[in-house]
Amino acid sequence: MIKSYVMNTSLQNRTPSAIVTATLLIMLISACSNAAPDRSGGGTNASTVAFANDMADESVMSKWARSCALCHISGEAGAPIVGDTADWQRRLAQGEQSILRRVIEGYNSMPPLGYCMACEEDDFRAMIGYMARTNQ
Ligand code: HEC
Repeated sequence: MIKSYVMNTSLQNRTPSAIVTATLLIMLISACSNAAPDRSGGGTNASTVAFANDMADESVMSKWARSCALCHISGEAGAPIVGDTADWQRRLAQGEQSILRRVIEGYNSMPPLGYCMACEEDDFRAMIGYMARTNQ
């Protein structure tokens, strides 16, 4: 945090950011405990716009580069290749929960978690969106 900012900031101005931080923490915690299949709550049309809202940010992409990229760039062992939208659309057609389960549990030559032990379900959603080109 920048010192001059802190000095010029009254208590009132600091409170909202504390609330935002607390809210983000709560969201993170509930996201973790809410690993159950139904993530479409809140009235969003999640099933039809699967993966559309998950942008792959830098931290997700660095995990992707260390794990998924090993196979999904070259098509190793029949892995769907990044940007091969026809192949990805065919696979996405099975539905979000089903494809996520295959990533988490493994599927044929696709290893469980795609070798990314540090990945969360939301990371996988973003990675799939990136590879299928549905989150751009
Ligand atoms: C060791 C190689 C390998 C790695 C590493 C890997 N994959 Fe895969 N992946 C595959 C293969 C092979 C398939 C195709 C499986 C099939 O259709 O039989 C696949 C398929 C998939 C599918 C489609 C599954 C389906 O239902 O059709 C998704 C989604 C996927 N991978 C995501 C990921 C993600 C995300 C990562 C990184 C966290 C990752 N993969 C890492 C090899 C790999």
